[in-house]
Amino acid sequence: MEGDSLYFGASCGASLFEKITACRRVLGRVKVAARMDKLFEELDFRETPIGDLILQRRKYLQLDGQVVYEVKLGDAFLMSSMFHVVEVALSKLGLAALGGDGWDVVVGGLGLGYTAVAALEFPQVKELLVVDAMEGVIDWHERELVPLGKTMNDDPRCCYVLGDFFALAADAERGFDPEVPGRKFHAVLLDIDHSPSNLLDPQNATFYTREGLAKMADQLHPGGVFGLWSDDAPHDGFTADLESVFPEVETHIVEFENPLLETVSKSTVYVAKKCRVPSDQ
Ligand SMILES: C[S@@+](CC[C@H](N)C(=O)[O-])C[C@H]1O[C@@H](n2cnc3c(N)ncnc32)[C@H](O)[C@@H]1O
Repeated sequence: MEGDSLYFGASCGASLFEKITACRRVLGRVKVAARMDKLFEELDFRETPIGDLILQRRKYLQLDGQVVYEVKLGDAFLMSSMFHVVEVALSKLGLAALGGDGWDVVVGGLGLGYTAVAALEFPQVKELLVVDAMEGVIDWHERELVPLGKTMNDDPRCCYVLGDFFALAADAERGFDPEVPGRKFHAVLLDIDHSPSNLLDPQNATFYTREGLAKMADQLHPGGVFGLWSDDAPHDGFTADLESVFPEVETHIVEFENPLLETVSKSTVYVAKKCRVPSDQ
């Protein structure tokens, strides 16, 4: 299925208005009128070591004035509020695979908060750590500059962790919780890179190997779940790597509409479950 233009999002590295389907989040070609100041606002701009980080708000007249928030890093679109079906599905599918109650959950990649808020909709979640490497992204939520900031701030189960997800995933002694070294979690839900082979930063590649996945799995309780968003079709090689670490692996193809292009696109959610009994591994 890979390669089908309607199948998965798009390739990265292009600027939004130069390509019909832009980076990662499938954004259509949009004609920005000269009156853009009324239709478009840059809410925040920050320089970061891996490119300029921008939060912008856009009103789409062709969509009955729908207001859309967009996050850009360099030339890449990290997230658009217009497309969040798969981000929500990541939490729904991942957490549906868990049993019991009192879950401690990590979401890797805050973005615009859709995955995190979908996780908070599960009453079984006891605590949610949302790890993001960009101070600006966390700051937008804390200041409630973005639509889901208030929901997250008002929920005492939710806390933001400023850090590199991949560094924390590789260091089980330290772990994701800066206050509780070595803490284990019931689920880790990851949406940072475009896919396991299309990365925001080449250094992230070590995570998507058997060794990298196994180190992260050490931070899961027995029976714990790892969920991953990917803009590519299910990849046999990566699935095999997941299966070498987790005994149960499912791939879900999730469809979502692009109202600008009037097309349906698809992304993948991987859900991998650790053995229930430690000695099984
Ligand atoms: C695609 S967005 C996440 C979208 C999110 N699932 C949502 O529902 O809005 C990716 C996020 O990962 C963050 N990020 C990028 N590299 C990271 C890293 N190494 N560690 C943690 N977060 C990172 C970005 O700042 C961005 O907020």
